[in-house]
Amino acid sequence: MKALILSGGKGSRLYPLTYTNAKQLIPVANKPVLFRVIEAIHDAGIIDIGIIIGDDDNGKRVREAVGQGRRWQVNITYIVQEAPLGLAHCVSIAGDFLGDDRFVMFLGDNVIEGGISNLIRKFENSDTNSQIVLTPVSEPQHYGVAELNPDQSIKKLVEKPRDPRSNLALVGIYMFDPTIHEAVRAITPSWRGELEITDAIQWLVEQNYKVHPYIHRGWWIDTGKPIDMLAANAKVLEELTPRIEGFVDRDSQVDERVTIEAGAEIVNSVVRGPTIIGENTRIVNSYVGPFTSIYHDCQIENAEIEYSLILEHSTISNVHTRITDSLIGRNVKVAHSELKPQAIKLTLGDNSQLGLI
Ligand code: G1P
Repeated sequence: MKALILSGGKGSRLYPLTYTNAKQLIPVANKPVLFRVIEAIHDAGIIDIGIIIGDDDNGKRVREAVGQGRRWQVNITYIVQEAPLGLAHCVSIAGDFLGDDRFVMFLGDNVIEGGISNLIRKFENSDTNSQIVLTPVSEPQHYGVAELNPDQSIKKLVEKPRDPRSNLALVGIYMFDPTIHEAVRAITPSWRGELEITDAIQWLVEQNYKVHPYIHRGWWIDTGKPIDMLAANAKVLEELTPRIEGFVDRDSQVDERVTIEAGAEIVNSVVRGPTIIGENTRIVNSYVGPFTSIYHDCQIENAEIEYSLILEHSTISNVHTRITDSLIGRNVKVAHSELKPQAIKLTLGDNSQLGLI
């Protein structure tokens, strides 16, 4: 089997972070989401991986970060999508790479509990033409939605229906055999001008091909918005096996659900897990609360922070209000200032969001 990871897109719901980085490269629990996707594919025994990237700077960043895949002992082939013409369009431009193989298609910003090994095992040697993953969600209108028959077979799939017929959303993990290429050729663009993979699978259903719906009961997160990134971070942190590789001084309290990476230092601080403190980061006179990931080379001094994600080389110092539910990018400085006037002074990137009290 092969794998196709989709890693294009502007990531506009995560501006300003995604002006300078691909959304798939934003870390959750200190590891880029895309790396987690590659690991899940590798763990399922697949080594030939195609990655769809945009014809833009974020595409170059993905290439740079992932390289040829040697770190994971996989072979990466990059396929450039010149415009965001839909998930089914990705399958069509990956035709040469995929050949006549069965494959799993994985959206590069999806995180799923438990990986995909079981799913692949079920599909790989079956006579099923396609396997899709469904999970109950509270706002199905934002997803592809499946309506099932009483015998659990698929009745109908509709992309982002105004009036959803069920709460079962299509997770961004799909398994196909070569009949999908026929389906992709048969469909036409949707109202949003995209070739929808949901329409291609619906075509398979209409042609009486075997499409198996697998209902996923664990958690699944599509990391589209800041709030989803924070939720994904919290879920993945809960799954980490904690380890202390850095230094914790005698005046600090660090509970058993905290990971401290090599070269990190915790000085006179309280750190509550699940939390991860990245390489060479210093936490001094501070409180770092649960569900927080602080990436490498950061400095947190005289500050309190919880349920947040902080990217590399950022500094938070002498801030008297607790920071929570926050997503902070790279090289950011948040600091108290004694300079007059005593007011909040901001330099925020385009499309930033600030919640003041
Ligand atoms: C895409 C699919 C949709 C699926 C979702 C999962 O949506 O079109 O069917 O439910 O991914 O993340 P999009 O991210 O393009 O809005």
